[in-house]
Amino acid sequence: MRMVDLIEKKRDGASLTKEEIHFIIEGYVREEIPDYQMSAWAMAVYFRGMSPEETAELTLTMAESGEQLDLSVLGERFVDKHSTGGVGDKTTLLLGPMVAACGVPVAKMSGRGLGHTGGTIDKLSSIPGFRVELTQEEFLRQVKKIGLSVIAQTGNMVPADKKLYALRDVTGTVSSIPLIASSVMSKKIAAGAQGIVLDVKYGSGAFMKTIEDARTLAKTMVDIGNALGRQTIAVLSNMNQPLGRAVGNCLEVLEVIDALQGKGPDDLMKVCLELGSWMLVAGGIAPNVETGKKLLHESIESGAAWQKFLEFLMEQGGDVQAVKERRLKVAPWSLPILAKESGYVQSFDAHKIGLLAMTLGAGRMTKESSIDLGAGVYLAKKAGEWVEAEEPVIQLYGRDQERLSEGVHLAQELISISSEIPERPPLIEEVLQ
Ligand code: URA
Repeated sequence: MRMVDLIEKKRDGASLTKEEIHFIIEGYVREEIPDYQMSAWAMAVYFRGMSPEETAELTLTMAESGEQLDLSVLGERFVDKHSTGGVGDKTTLLLGPMVAACGVPVAKMSGRGLGHTGGTIDKLSSIPGFRVELTQEEFLRQVKKIGLSVIAQTGNMVPADKKLYALRDVTGTVSSIPLIASSVMSKKIAAGAQGIVLDVKYGSGAFMKTIEDARTLAKTMVDIGNALGRQTIAVLSNMNQPLGRAVGNCLEVLEVIDALQGKGPDDLMKVCLELGSWMLVAGGIAPNVETGKKLLHESIESGAAWQKFLEFLMEQGGDVQAVKERRLKVAPWSLPILAKESGYVQSFDAHKIGLLAMTLGAGRMTKESSIDLGAGVYLAKKAGEWVEAEEPVIQLYGRDQERLSEGVHLAQELISISSEIPERPPLIEEVLQ
C-alpha cells in the first residue's frame, strides 16, 4: 500500500477499508508516514468526510495505537467527561472536584489548546509545580486514593491522537466531524471509563458552528461509545460567547478558584451542573439529574469540592498555597478596552475572542510554539449586560506592549453596544443518549 494512493482515494470521495485505515494510523505512529502526507489526508477527510463505519474503525485503531487502561480493575464505576472544545471552557477543572466530592471517581486524560480554543492541560500547567504527566501507575494510584486525577495524554496512550491532534491544530483540519469524534472517543475508550459524558459545543466559538452539525457529531460519538459498551451521554451546549468571563490559562484557573468557593459566573455553573449531574447519574450516585444537581450544589456550599481540588493539586505537585492566595503568574501588562457609549453589550463572538486571546499569546500558532500562560482576556461585561460609556468592557493581558497593541484593534472591533437587550439563546440545547 502507498499513502499517496490513500490520500487520492479519500480526496476523490471513496471510503477507506479497515486495512487502509490501519495502514495510515499505524504508519503515522511509527513515523513511516510524514506529517506532510498526513496533513493532506486530514484535509481530504475534512472535505470528503467518513462513513459511520470508517469513523468507528478510525476510532478503534487510534484507541489501540498505544496502551489502554482497564479501570475496572480498581473495582469502581469510573466516569469521564470530554468537551469538543470551546472558548473559556474550564468545566473540567470545576467538574472534576465537584463530581469526585460527590463520590464518583474521575480519571481523565485531557488535551492542550486546539485552534482558537483552550485546553485543560495548558490551564493546569499555569499552576506552579503541577505535574500533568504521570505514569499509568501513579494515575491509577491517585484515582484510587482521592477519586480524581487529570493528566495529559501520556506518550504511550493514544499516540495516534497525540500526533494527529497537534498536526490538525496547525493545518486547518480541526473542524471535521469524523476527526473530532475519533479524537475524543479514542481517548475515552483507551482511558477505560465505563461512563462518558460529552459536552458537545456549537456556535461561533465551537468547531461545530450549527446545532445540526453538533447533533451529528454528538450522535456519532454516542453511537461509538454505546456500541463499545460504554454508557455515553452527550449534552449540546451553546458556545456563541465564551463560558464565564476569563479566557486564557492563568485567568481561567483564577475563575475556577472563585467558582469552587461559590463565586462562579452563572453560565459556567449552569453548564457544570448539567454535565456533572449526568456524571453522577452515569456513576450510579444519583437516580436522576435533579438529585445530581442538588448534590453538586451541596459540594460547593459545604466546601467539599474546594477541598477536593486542593487535595488533587497536592497529589499532582501543585503549589496549594499559591492557589489559596490566588498567586498565579498573570501577564504583567494589562489594558482595559472602554465602552464608547452606554447601552447593552450585544453578542460577543466567541471565535474572535479566542483569536484575540491567541494574538495576546494564549494559543499556539505552530505545532512547536510555546504559549504564554499568563496572557488572555477578561470580559468585564458579557452579552446582555449594561455598560456605561467609558467603563471597561474587556481587559487584555499580555507579556509586552507590542502584543497588547495588536490586541487593542481586534478587541475594539468586537464590541457592539445598543439600547436593545439582545436575545439570548438557551445555554443547554438538548441531551442525547
Ligand atoms: N477535543 C479533542 O479531544 N479532539 C478534537 O478533535 C476536538 C476537541
